[in-house]
Amino acid sequence: MGRIFIAPSILSCNFLALEKEIKDVERAGADMIHIDVMDGHFVPNITIGPMIVEAVKRVARTPLDVHLMIENPAQYVEGFIAAGADIVTVHAEADHHLFRTIDVIKSMGKKAGVSLNPSTPLAMLDHVITEIDMVLIMSVNPGFGGQKYIVTMDEKIKKARQMIQESGRAIDLEVDGGIKTENAKRVADAGANILVLGTGIFHTKDYKKTIQEVRKRVG
Ligand code: DX5
Ligand code: ZN
Repeated sequence: MGRIFIAPSILSCNFLALEKEIKDVERAGADMIHIDVMDGHFVPNITIGPMIVEAVKRVARTPLDVHLMIENPAQYVEGFIAAGADIVTVHAEADHHLFRTIDVIKSMGKKAGVSLNPSTPLAMLDHVITEIDMVLIMSVNPGFGGQKYIVTMDEKIKKARQMIQESGRAIDLEVDGGIKTENAKRVADAGANILVLGTGIFHTKDYKKTIQEVRKRVG
């Protein structure tokens, strides 16, 4: 495996100090900023819209990895890209016309990701794998930070890595939910190359130490 990328999820940062949190986590070695967008329909929580993404873009130096946990994502992808998203990920379960949405994202020069909830079969990717830049496997039911990693996702991640290899394309495999320094290695060993950590970074005291520890353990 190549390099492992660390994507801190600002869902669990101190929003009153958003600028400082972003700068701190980037200085600590983050490779990108993961932004969790929730609409209160696809998931039982409401979080961040394009206005906040635009504000984040003004201070972030790393790419913005925008994870849309919303119904009808096609209606919003352009807005999030205009706000500064570099990677836009939509849920296969929420989009009736995935090809069209992926097309829009790519035609705007951005990376397109497709995400699957823990219980959604990988077969959902069969016909789009040739089009996308990233697969995002949820290892918790999305909606909240701080949930426990679902261990049966190890197998799903392995199979997703296999699918990617068979596609012959350079597709990133991101895993999101319940990742901490303690279990980062099992996720990377299963085949993930981008690890999202929310509470696993922002609820620790020293972000740099945490990120270094993750790198040490997966390395
Ligand atoms: C889950 C979100 C995650 C979340 C991860 O609904 O998509 O990105 O912030 O948080 P942790 O790492 O605390 O599980
Ligand atoms: Zn996420």
